[in-house]
Amino acid sequence: MTEVKLFFRLAVLLYLFTAARFCYAARSRFSGSRKNVEVLKHLNRLNKRPTNSIQSPDGDIIDCVHVSHQPAFDHPFLKNHTIKMAPNYHPNWINKDGINLSSMMNPSKDEQSSSFEKHEAITQLWHSNGKCPKGTIPIRRTKKEDILRASSVKRYGKKSFSTFMQPSSIDPDLINQNGHQHAIAYSQGEFYGAKATMNVWNPKIHQSNEFSLSQIWLLGGSFASDLNSIEAGWQVSPDLYGDNNTRLFIYWTSDAYQATGCYNLLCSGFVQTNNEIAIGGSISPISQSHGSQYDITILIWKDPEEGNWWMQFGNGKVLGYWPATLFSYLSDSASLIEWGGEVVNTASDGQHSTTQMGSGAFPEEGFSKASYFRNIQIVDESNNLRDPKDMNTFSEQPNCYNVQTHNNDKWGSHFYYGGPGRNPNCP
Ligand SMILES: *[C@@H]1O[C@H](CO)[C@@H](O)[C@H](O)[C@H]1NC(C)=O
Ligand SMILES: *[C@@H]1O[C@H](CO)[C@@H](O)[C@H](O)[C@H]1NC(C)=O
Ligand SMILES: *[C@@H]1O[C@H](CO)[C@@H](O)[C@H](O)[C@H]1NC(C)=O
Repeated sequence: MTEVKLFFRLAVLLYLFTAARFCYAARSRFSGSRKNVEVLKHLNRLNKRPTNSIQSPDGDIIDCVHVSHQPAFDHPFLKNHTIKMAPNYHPNWINKDGINLSSMMNPSKDEQSSSFEKHEAITQLWHSNGKCPKGTIPIRRTKKEDILRASSVKRYGKKSFSTFMQPSSIDPDLINQNGHQHAIAYSQGEFYGAKATMNVWNPKIHQSNEFSLSQIWLLGGSFASDLNSIEAGWQVSPDLYGDNNTRLFIYWTSDAYQATGCYNLLCSGFVQTNNEIAIGGSISPISQSHGSQYDITILIWKDPEEGNWWMQFGNGKVLGYWPATLFSYLSDSASLIEWGGEVVNTASDGQHSTTQMGSGAFPEEGFSKASYFRNIQIVDESNNLRDPKDMNTFSEQPNCYNVQTHNNDKWGSHFYYGGPGRNPNCP
């Protein structure tokens, strides 16, 4: 190409670029003030007046909000709701030989501490700078930038796609919808809860609109637009939190991720009772490859009397509950439980994303390298924790992310899962 032609092309490009920038600036000035008002209104709804606030080393501000002023009570169904500060029942723990371990334990002691080896305690970063007093709950304050990163004020804190995997649709044509990829174990039946212990990692995220998470799903409904879901685990999601930290999260929806539900306390619904754990807060420390392993235990179960779904985190810390009235199908029971990882692969440069799942290692690498879910259990109709009868596995592209189940006495039903994403076998 001659120099003149090159110069001419550059000039045209420069002109187009300037014109586009001008149009964009004019448009955003026009819509800017209205959006600003909308963002401020939403911040006002989400951030309740705190009794005190704690600055976390990771940049978060943790507001201690009186339990009765939390976002849950903005929900129209919860206007007259009387808060429950504790569940009526905990599930009994029946081991695989049918022995009732609950009846053998001192009820004041946590079920875990007597039976598993001691694991180093996981805390949250903000604990180094203070505590929330009794009668309040810690809430991660939403900042203006958080909302501005979302596609719209309305979508802030919501998943943009159905992110569960439906076993009956394991059909090559449906695989890789929206680029969401899973490596999970699942069990179908009639369930009243689920439990697992998972180690915590800090997977690398290829670009900010992708995420990597590891969680439990409790699902009910016809898997159409009426799907009910309760979810909890850890995630790295730059768009949601503005950083690459590993964070504890929860999610719920009663209409297949459309209008209802959200992450954490970013909409009204989940009622928190615990004053120590900030949902959405960073988890620390994180497992190291070939080094110390840190894991968290999550138990979600339905109170047989009130029907609310309670969540317990770690050694006996009850975080709170999803009121039964939020749900249709889950006001009865769950029909599918899933455990495992999910990532978003936008394949933006025509290749598979390098976003890692779990530790980024494949399951064959095993303990201290791969990520795991161990002591996987379900809660049956008699409120007993049991090993799942049938557990199947699923992954869309095993060469990118995979899952391998095992069973032994110490770890019960367990599996390793994860992977690096892009690699020579996953181009
Ligand atoms: C709450 O209580 C008021 C007064 O008793 C009643 O009119 C209203 O219907 C109740 N709302 C809900 C959602 O139950
Ligand atoms: C297991 O033990 C607990 C505590 O003693 C008891 O409440 C529960 O009914 C027992 N469950 C079964 C199935 O035996
Ligand atoms: C998150 O990590 C990616 C690289 O994996 C980096 O490009 C990005 O700047 C990080 N984002 C933040 C908010 O730190």
